[in-house]
Amino acid sequence: MNILIESQRSLSRIIKNETWPPMSKAARSVFEARLSQEFPQLFTKLFELYGHQYDFYYYLQSLVATLAQGYSERPRALKRKDKQRLIEPHWYQSEDMLGMACYVDLFAGNLKQLKNKIPYLTELGISYLHLMPLYDSPKGDSDGGYAVSDYRKVNEQLGSVDDLKDLANALEKAGISLVLDFVFNHTSDEHRWALAAQAGNIEYQEYFHMFDDRAIPDQYEHNLREIFPQVRRGNFTWNEQAQKWVWTTFNSFQWDLNYSNPAVFNAITEEMLFLANLGCEALRLDALAFIWKEMGTNCENQDKAHTLIQAFNSCLKISAPAVVFKSEAIVHPDEVLKYIDKDECQLSYNPLLMALIWESLATRNTQLLTSSMRKSFAISPSCAWVNYVRCHDDIGWTFDDKVAQELGINGQDHRQFLNQFYTGRFAGSFANGVAFGENPSNGDCRVCGSLASLAGLERAIQSNNPQHIEHSVARILMIHSIILSIGGVPLLYSGDELGVLNDYRYQQDSSKQHDDRWVHRIALSDQALKQAEHPQSAQFSISQGVKRLIHLRQKHAVFGQSETQIIDSGNTHIFAYGRKNIAAEQLLVLCNFSESMQQINSQILASLGHDSIKNLISEQLINSVNPSITLRPYEVMWLVKH
Ligand code: GLC
Ligand code: GLC
Repeated sequence: MNILIESQRSLSRIIKNETWPPMSKAARSVFEARLSQEFPQLFTKLFELYGHQYDFYYYLQSLVATLAQGYSERPRALKRKDKQRLIEPHWYQSEDMLGMACYVDLFAGNLKQLKNKIPYLTELGISYLHLMPLYDSPKGDSDGGYAVSDYRKVNEQLGSVDDLKDLANALEKAGISLVLDFVFNHTSDEHRWALAAQAGNIEYQEYFHMFDDRAIPDQYEHNLREIFPQVRRGNFTWNEQAQKWVWTTFNSFQWDLNYSNPAVFNAITEEMLFLANLGCEALRLDALAFIWKEMGTNCENQDKAHTLIQAFNSCLKISAPAVVFKSEAIVHPDEVLKYIDKDECQLSYNPLLMALIWESLATRNTQLLTSSMRKSFAISPSCAWVNYVRCHDDIGWTFDDKVAQELGINGQDHRQFLNQFYTGRFAGSFANGVAFGENPSNGDCRVCGSLASLAGLERAIQSNNPQHIEHSVARILMIHSIILSIGGVPLLYSGDELGVLNDYRYQQDSSKQHDDRWVHRIALSDQALKQAEHPQSAQFSISQGVKRLIHLRQKHAVFGQSETQIIDSGNTHIFAYGRKNIAAEQLLVLCNFSESMQQINSQILASLGHDSIKNLISEQLINSVNPSITLRPYEVMWLVKH
């Protein structure tokens, strides 16, 4: 069979028998052009997933009708955005890009009030705002909103869909791209599909993975990880009403969708286009590693997970091409890379950089960071990393054991050390963190804590030690400087720009106390804002320092679309990289990951190919004739030709 000929044949049949909503002639011609252009890819992917099912053509036809519907409902302003983005598809690579992730309630109270915070965001230089999931979800524990009961309804406490559209508009006017979650691996057990399944509706039971007894679940279970072992062992939950076992990778109230069923693909595409049409410019693909299950495997990162995401991406290219995907794959670095492609996820979190920044802070040694970045930093030039140091989740040590081994590091032991260090159990640790998801069978865990607390500020303030305070502030600025300069979209986690400390009050809240991630999901209080204005406070130094780095980034094109080269600095305490853009502008970055002075051979400056060099941060000139450069504890240098 020739797939292209079959694709052509199907497309012309679909167009001949179309049941699309009425469209103007012009709109129809745009839609048809995009459909024809993208159809071979979409068809190929769907055929791979569902071609063996007798009713494939039925689902294909109804999917195209869904795409037509989504396109015809797309507001005019967003269609203009589509055109604009098609002309400049790599908008996310600009030096002006700066992201922030926040919870609507913790940051502002609700969506209406968030509008009043736009000046705060623009003053900081934010151009990308990820609102943590704000959809209708179960009362009490909803996994921070990641259990969605209705994708088309906003959580009442935050506002309404109209408020969200209104905010999207206001953000657009302020030059801020809205980013929303696409929580497509699972729905909550209160979603209407799950309710119908519980009531015994077979059609909807096929939307999920449901089993009468343990026979099949037990077979799967052999190879599966446990994500939240502190909540429930295993990956399945017994549902009393349906009298069935349900696949629940995360919490028991989060039901994994069954993508081997084409009806699920089509239904979720409708929801996806609804979200796209609210005016977001990127969708964050939540837990995307888990969407395809294959017996005998760990059911993560399966080939067909990629096929599915590519198919979803084709749908966007047809109906809402201004929207890109951001991958949230917190998995082995080699697997993270596989999601990044112009036809799959154009953006991706960089969990390896995140984890290894913390690793290097703990060890004061940057070798694992350097080797790992040399291996895994380079991605397609049409895509971009989203670089972050903290987010709403725990930190998992997802480095490659083989790379570690080459440096004489035992991965397993090293993870244990890092957990000990960041939970403050290791003698001499500067960090205050909390262990998360401890697995009673193998002792594995991950780490929670706010950026500032993990970087030592909490402990330093408690012990009232000025030098420790100074060091923790310097650490905080250094790690921010890396995400701001290494290449990609820097993503701040709201509150970190002010150095907020752990908030332990979740331990008193029965809907939160079993999930320690709440320790770093902190309300932005007026007090925190005020404290950051107090010139004597550490928070003031942090907030001013971060702002200054942002300002420098946004002034120099080399921080935008440039190539990054990770450099072996010759000093294990110093992390180094160079950047170069097509205008031949260059940047050399040096970061001292230790609390002692460090020297480095001036030869490293040769890459800048110039005698007169300026450190953008200190504004000092560097004399390359000196044989070595000295960096103060935790100092960062952003070096350019002068
Ligand atoms: C993602 C989210 C996390 C959530 C999980 C399940 O990893 O970041 O917060 O618990 O998916 O939706
Ligand atoms: C695991 C998952 C990741 C999720 C996290 C939530 O690390 O791989 O997707 O965000 O758990 O804690």
